[in-house]
Amino acid sequence: MDDFHYRDGELYCEGVRLSEVAAEVGTPLYVYSRGTLVEHASKVRAAFAELNPLVCFAVKSCPNIHVLSALAESGCGMDVVSGGELRRARLAGVDPSRIVFAGVGKTDSEIRDALRGGARPGEEPGDPIGLFNIESEPEYEVLATAARSMGVRARAALRVNPGVKAGGHAYVETATESSKFGVDLDRAAQLLERFSHEKHLRLSGVHLHIGSSIVTPEPYAEAIARVLAMIDTLAAKGVTVDTLDIGGGFGADYQTGDAPTAAEFARVIVPMLKGRVERGLRIVIEPGRSISANAGVLLTRVLYVKLSGGGARKFVVCDAGMNTLIRPALYDAFHFIWPTSVSPQHEPIRRSATMDLPGLETCDVVGPVCESGDFFAKDRLMPMVARGDLLAVFAAGAYGMSMASRYNSHPLPAEVLVSGTHAKVVRRRETLDDLVEHELVLGG
Ligand SMILES: Cc1ncc(COP(=O)(O)O)c(C=O)c1O
Repeated sequence: MDDFHYRDGELYCEGVRLSEVAAEVGTPLYVYSRGTLVEHASKVRAAFAELNPLVCFAVKSCPNIHVLSALAESGCGMDVVSGGELRRARLAGVDPSRIVFAGVGKTDSEIRDALRGGARPGEEPGDPIGLFNIESEPEYEVLATAARSMGVRARAALRVNPGVKAGGHAYVETATESSKFGVDLDRAAQLLERFSHEKHLRLSGVHLHIGSSIVTPEPYAEAIARVLAMIDTLAAKGVTVDTLDIGGGFGADYQTGDAPTAAEFARVIVPMLKGRVERGLRIVIEPGRSISANAGVLLTRVLYVKLSGGGARKFVVCDAGMNTLIRPALYDAFHFIWPTSVSPQHEPIRRSATMDLPGLETCDVVGPVCESGDFFAKDRLMPMVARGDLLAVFAAGAYGMSMASRYNSHPLPAEVLVSGTHAKVVRRRETLDDLVEHELVLGG
């Protein structure tokens, strides 16, 4: 599943002992396993191999440039949703032709940069990125006007909203009728018919992204079936759709065995698309979480253990909080949490909320932020811990660091990428000076 494991009571990432990394680099600290990232990406490629897809890693899930470059070297393209993500992908060495750009609110300057292959004004321009996933008619007009004025030819897919309910939380459902994303199918068919032959911006693809943390293939089957029906109707009118981007959203395994594998999704999706791929349809897939979630842990140091409610409730207060990893506070998400150094009897037999081991205690694991919503776990069974102990928050590689903030003026944490027995700091810890830097330049 991943390369985080206990050996003689000590947690390792690949061949690196995590207590040693934390002692050297400090906490809070995100640690990623290169081997796990690459293995997860290759499992997606293998599962969907019959469709020969371009697998574009969703940068938003784990945007560190070094993570992106490891995935790009292993054969991934990138799915970006902002000029910042495009910049990261280019710095990671990703070829512009392997970049797809989604997002409901692209700015004019982001559009122009992407039409120059990610080059900013003053830099040597390249060819436009591989595919713009656009979300509305006005966006088509802005993009087409820019392409015309720059004298370049770009390709676009229209994000459609197939009206299916999918995703682990209301905030990550993206394809219901009330969603801000995409265009409904009837309108989409009209736009594809109108713009499929435009010279500077050929609209000849369809994009779907139906949600995140999806744990059954059925919503994909439903959405793809609706889109294929639209594609067939268009074909009867002589309008060819040459690209289908099915988005991301495959759930990650946050508790042992709670999410299907890429192969289980592929078993349903591949037969629906195989014949069309043989007849020339290009497939793009945009997985994020399913590649990066289990490739990362968050390490946090216990600052205090305190009792409240007349001694009935035990709080483990850590140096990481909702500012470092917001998923529990925002989505009520489960993360398995365990000390990195335990007695042999406390090596976890699985990663789940219920753990049948002797001598565990119930506690709330919380952060330093001044909000009651600042918690990682409530009523959680864990081995007894004390001030100075190191905890690992598992499956924190997706939407962890990428959603971290400086709330309460805590500097952003460091990031380490492990490969074999080598641990490399790939983002240095922010300092208090970094925190105020942009304000001090104003003088006064
Ligand atoms: C357009 C698009 N593609 C791909 C993804 C990746 O989703 P996930 O990390 O759930 O695979 C997202 C996530 O929000 C997205 O908005």
